[in-house]
Amino acid sequence: MSQPVDADERARALAVLGTEASVCVACRLATGRTQVVFGSGDPDASLMVVGEGPGQREDEQGLPFVGPSGRLLDELLDEIGLTREAGVYIANVVKCRPPGNRDPLADEIDACKGYLRRQIELVDPAVMLTLGNFATKLLLRTELGITRLRGRPYEWWGGRHLVPTYHPAAALRGSARVLEEMRFDLAIVRRLIDGTYPGIGPASPPQVASTQLDLFE
Ligand code: URA
Repeated sequence: MSQPVDADERARALAVLGTEASVCVACRLATGRTQVVFGSGDPDASLMVVGEGPGQREDEQGLPFVGPSGRLLDELLDEIGLTREAGVYIANVVKCRPPGNRDPLADEIDACKGYLRRQIELVDPAVMLTLGNFATKLLLRTELGITRLRGRPYEWWGGRHLVPTYHPAAALRGSARVLEEMRFDLAIVRRLIDGTYPGIGPASPPQVASTQLDLFE
């Protein structure tokens, strides 16, 4: 699919995609949702954040990360000088709430990933921040866990960089160390956006096909 370069055109294409997604019935999650949580933020963002899937608050409000995890995410973004309104676009791997907040299933992720792919193409961020295992495993095409992968950036699809970190829910449940490590990862994001991150090497861990052109096939 061709890529509209103009920011207004990309914002319009994103809105059209959101309307399409709002009536999606491609998987069983359609039956339990209140509404589709497509994504929100700056369509011309330099950072795109990808979480796992909507929870109850998100399902009610139709917006990603509006509950406790979202408040922590906002704080962490604020610490690196970013807000959802300017410079950040937020989406999830699955756009509909899994019942009882269970993990999304492989076929649900599969049914939804075309939307995420198109969101990434349209927002065209310089940097991707993946929150937790689901987003990280999907976008880095790896089975390695977040603890192994975080703490460094990866050269990624289309000249972008990807920074994996914990899901904010892990910091809310976990130790102060998790939060400190998230701050460390967010500082990497800031430096990548500023172009001041030193020496990004080509090395990627095994199982990571970081130069693969089609991440979603
Ligand atoms: N957790 C997520 O992964 N996404 C949301 O939108 C909210 C909580």
